[in-house]
Amino acid sequence: MKIYNSELLSLDECELIYNWFEDEKDVFKSSTENGESYISAHESNLPKDFPYVHKLLKDKIENKVFPLLSTPFNKLSVKTSFGCRYSMVTDPSMPCHYDGDDFTVLIYLNRGFIGGGTSFPLLKKVLTVTDVGVGNCVIFPGLDIKSWHGALPITKGIRYTISVRLSRESLFYRIKNSFKIFILMPFTFLFNKYPTLHTK
Ligand SMILES: [Fe+2]
Repeated sequence: MKIYNSELLSLDECELIYNWFEDEKDVFKSSTENGESYISAHESNLPKDFPYVHKLLKDKIENKVFPLLSTPFNKLSVKTSFGCRYSMVTDPSMPCHYDGDDFTVLIYLNRGFIGGGTSFPLLKKVLTVTDVGVGNCVIFPGLDIKSWHGALPITKGIRYTISVRLSRESLFYRIKNSFKIFILMPFTFLFNKYPTLHTK
């Protein structure tokens, strides 16, 4: 499974979004609205809660990320986006899961915390903000069996990431993806039975 890297946001943009998120931190909730609660953390649906942030990310991703992934017969679109807020008093981590879309663009928004990082247990890989860089993103296929991933716990501070979901536009892929999701979801239950793979 290939994981791409790309620059996306400037440090100023990250600081602006971070401060905005912190001003409105009560909208970050652990809820079934953004997926199953047992594999969720404190999240915000950006198109609903922070539409300007979603629009900014959509424009940047269409310019910088689509050229890495798209071909003339494989058009992509930005489906939705979520902000994740990790803290010691809410959720310090997120259990491993599959995102379930064609691609996930995962943006690392800030430093100033201890711990954290994105763990891909089946790839034996952990990516941290030090590896990726503030404002930069990693892009991975959300329906590859090896993409099973979670957020490692922080032990101090506040950590934000943003997950932007991309989907292929063709009906063929939409039908194919429904079958893939159906097959992958039971693996989440199965893999989470192994305590050594847990992140929470
Ligand atoms: Fe995820």
